[in-house]
Amino acid sequence: MSISDSPNLKSPSADGICCTHLTWTKGGLSRTQGSIHSPTALSPSVQPRGEKCRPVSLPTSKSEGDTLSSPHLKAFMYSELNNATRNFCNDSLIGEGGFGYVYKGWIDERTLGPARPGCGMVVAIKKLGDKVFQGRREWLAEVQYLSQFQHPNLVRLLGYCLDGDNRLLVYEYVPRGSLENHLFRRGAQPLSWEIRIKVAIGAARGLSFLHEAEQSVIHRDFKASNILLDLEYNAKLSDFGLAKAGPIGDGTHFSTQVMGTQGYAAPEYIATGCLTARCDVYSFGVVLLELLSGRCAVDKSKVGVKQNLVEWAKPYLSNKRKLYRIMDERLEGQYPQKGAYMAAFLAFECIGDAKCRPSMTEVLVRLEKILVPKESTATARQEQQLGSSSLRLKSPLRHDHPSPAVRMPRGLSPHSAMRSRRQ
Ligand SMILES: Nc1ncnc2c1ncn2[C@@H]1O[C@H](COP(=O)(O)OP(=O)(O)OP(=O)(O)O)[C@@H](O)[C@H]1O
Ligand SMILES: [Mg+2]
Repeated sequence: MSISDSPNLKSPSADGICCTHLTWTKGGLSRTQGSIHSPTALSPSVQPRGEKCRPVSLPTSKSEGDTLSSPHLKAFMYSELNNATRNFCNDSLIGEGGFGYVYKGWIDERTLGPARPGCGMVVAIKKLGDKVFQGRREWLAEVQYLSQFQHPNLVRLLGYCLDGDNRLLVYEYVPRGSLENHLFRRGAQPLSWEIRIKVAIGAARGLSFLHEAEQSVIHRDFKASNILLDLEYNAKLSDFGLAKAGPIGDGTHFSTQVMGTQGYAAPEYIATGCLTARCDVYSFGVVLLELLSGRCAVDKSKVGVKQNLVEWAKPYLSNKRKLYRIMDERLEGQYPQKGAYMAAFLAFECIGDAKCRPSMTEVLVRLEKILVPKESTATARQEQQLGSSSLRLKSPLRHDHPSPAVRMPRGLSPHSAMRSRRQ
């Protein structure tokens, strides 16, 4: 099945910015099916597709009631969020996706009740659109996953609202918005090389954390629009509506309905429905390519092979001499050749054959190394300026210590699984 044949994949819009077209096909919910209080009705549908795939059930063993009564989440009333966003007015609107609209709102830091604009804490409030049939399932999955995890590279969910037919989610506000806007929005200030690698490292750390969790989680919808950036350009992953608990025990994959976004979903997943953590690694490779090239995964305004970033860029990624052809012109050559090649080759491996893709932990370690040469050079320069002999006298044991720049994240094994995202 080709990418465009896949019924559940979101497709990018003509200007190249990915937009969501959620379609629910087999086993899908209609608005009248599956009450929100019926966990079985809302459990993900699983379609075995081929001998090697192992069906897996619910993402977590928690019931819906348990999830919604999490002590980490506040249950908001609709009227509170209405007040916090000044009746969901257009001035408060900050974005739109497949789930619905996203608004900026203000709440009291201590009580989490609504606050006057400009007072208290800023939050982002996602409001499920009326026509998003699949949205109820995604809404619950988002609450289930984000209430379980807290990590600096995952967006924080503060609470939810389930009030009549209204379903909303309340997140920490991430001030710089999505990576997609920074890379592809017309007129956006180009990101420097260092910031691009920093963003890649933060996103890799978030994915690696999910893959290495006690019960690993596959994001399934990893893409530039789901990477939010704070003021220091720390990446925070968002949108867990399509996330899946990874295989348990010795299983490495399971079958599921194909969901995701065109251009980011791994080809073997689209073809077979077999979902593994490596699907996320593929999506990560695509985002890394977007960071290097400044081009989006699918660009319908282009013709031929240039429409698909992976197909277009692949031949240049493992060739040091040709690499400059795919690098973002807006970088104006301001990047280290060696670092660019390291990143490009890493992307090449991530989008390659599933069996040979690196784990997200390995991806993270290799990305961190890209920033090391610069730091080492700076240190060397500093040593020259200060006089290397005096430095040696002051710290005679320096050479005994390993470089602090390349560290394995605590609690992560070097052999980790990976995962991907939806549309
Ligand atoms: N917590 C947040 N803080 C700040 N801005 C946010 C936050 N969450 C979302 N946004 C903004 O709202 C936009 C829409 O987000 P949303 O997740 O609904 O859609 P999307 O990611 O663009 O598409 P998709 O539905 O395919 O995931 C984002 O691109 C981002 O700019
Ligand atoms: Mg999103």
